Amino acid sequence: MIKIGHRGAMGYEPENTLRSIKKALEQNVDMVEFDVQALKDGEIILMHDDTLDRTTNGHGFVAEKTLKEIKKLDAGKGEKVPTLQEALDVIDKKVPVIIEMTGFLTTASLVSDVISHNVKNNNWKYKDIMVSSFIHPELMLFREYLPQIKIGANISAIPVSYARFAQEIGVDFVATENLYLKDDKFVKDAQARGLEMYLYSVDDPYYLQRYEEFGIDGVFSNKPDKII
Ligand code: G3P
Ligand code: MG
Repeated sequence: MIKIGHRGAMGYEPENTLRSIKKALEQNVDMVEFDVQALKDGEIILMHDDTLDRTTNGHGFVAEKTLKEIKKLDAGKGEKVPTLQEALDVIDKKVPVIIEMTGFLTTASLVSDVISHNVKNNNWKYKDIMVSSFIHPELMLFREYLPQIKIGANISAIPVSYARFAQEIGVDFVATENLYLKDDKFVKDAQARGLEMYLYSVDDPYYLQRYEEFGIDGVFSNKPDKII
């Protein structure tokens, strides 16, 4: 089972910052996940919420800001909000990444440009970058730009037809919220369809044992050291 640092290691450090990513790497995660969104000037930054208020000392919609404005903010413990490029530079191919696309503005084209740049210039491999989203149309758009990148559909439910939707839209993995998973039916269904199944977010070793029995392929964790 793959252990994935969630927003870096957000249980210990300010989420989606370089400090949080470094903490996840220190804790020997197999992969790092972080959320990205576009700014009005076309830059891509790490941020989960649509607004700045919860995770920074700024206010208002992320989509209405420029990188210059974003870089003035404190994202916690004096950390700056990183760009996608800065996050990839810090990880520097030590582990594969999952880039989750979110936000008000479309990100697919911009994220694909950054990935292509890093494959061409910084020795990143396509196989070491995956892209996910709750916004499934954005995944379909992304695939038009970079079909060689694995994509994953995030959901927050257990659908009646389990992973059928994911197979129908042609994603490579599905990630759902662990608290709704009570048995292994969804997992087995996904795997029978050739998909991988991930869970977010698991910080408790007691649950981890159950998910191992279910055959889950990977878990996101806010506190990776608790489950590694
Ligand atoms: O990608 C898994 C997980 O990060 C999805 O939820 O809201 O934490 O981005 P969220
Ligand atoms: Mg995420």
